[in-house]
Amino acid sequence: MDSPVLIDVIAIDGPAASGKSTIGRLLAQKLGYLFLDTGCMYRAVTLAALQQDVPVTDETAVTQLTHATQIGITPPQDEADGRLYTVQIDGQDATWTLRSPAVDTHVSLVSSYAGVRQELVRQQRLFGDKGRVVMVGRDIGTVVLPDAPLKLYITASAKERARRRWLDRQQQGHESSFDAILADVERRDQFDSSRQHSPLHPDADAVTIDTTGRSITDILNQILQLINEKQFTIHDSQSTIHNS
Ligand code: DC
Repeated sequence: MDSPVLIDVIAIDGPAASGKSTIGRLLAQKLGYLFLDTGCMYRAVTLAALQQDVPVTDETAVTQLTHATQIGITPPQDEADGRLYTVQIDGQDATWTLRSPAVDTHVSLVSSYAGVRQELVRQQRLFGDKGRVVMVGRDIGTVVLPDAPLKLYITASAKERARRRWLDRQQQGHESSFDAILADVERRDQFDSSRQHSPLHPDADAVTIDTTGRSITDILNQILQLINEKQFTIHDSQSTIHNS
């Protein structure tokens, strides 16, 4: 029998609106781990550029801005607005502004810049070094945490992902066209998977989970079962679950 592996970091990757953030957050909650959605860091740099009139097409200026911007990510406090975490840019709450259509439009370009990625990956690895973290993004299993003992690749059909994003927008009170959202999801998939630096693709070790038409509970149970089946050991603050 294989000896148990301590899973103190879990890497989750996948395309936009695949459900990876919701699943990652619930998994983190279940294990008592920190949840880190790295997409919001690329969004924060994009928003900072838009707010400070730094042209998003100017790679050097955006890279400098990445180094100069302080991005704070913390669990939500008392806000009853459905947020999964709070993001601050230089001390200012930017959690919802990060989700604006203007950020959606420009974030793929900003996240394609090598210097931006280098700095944000450095910051993400600091979280990884501390352990007890579920980290979600596009390159977590392949680049940020290549040694993560559990890597998941969460995906869904483009239509299903566009439908979820459309519903999110409705719930936030924004009227939007489903077709426009679908086109944006497909454009970003294409861009994120074909970019030169850290393109989106499942790591060879990753377990792929297609969430199309499945409930979150069902998927979460599958992941927990996966952890058990592999006889991994999960440490949490209260107890150690050791499936021997
Ligand atoms: O997951 P999201 O939609 O919030 O991500 C926003 C953008 O950031 C997306 O276009 C891809 C990019 N991203 C990335 O390149 N690497 C990551 N680890 C996370 C996100």
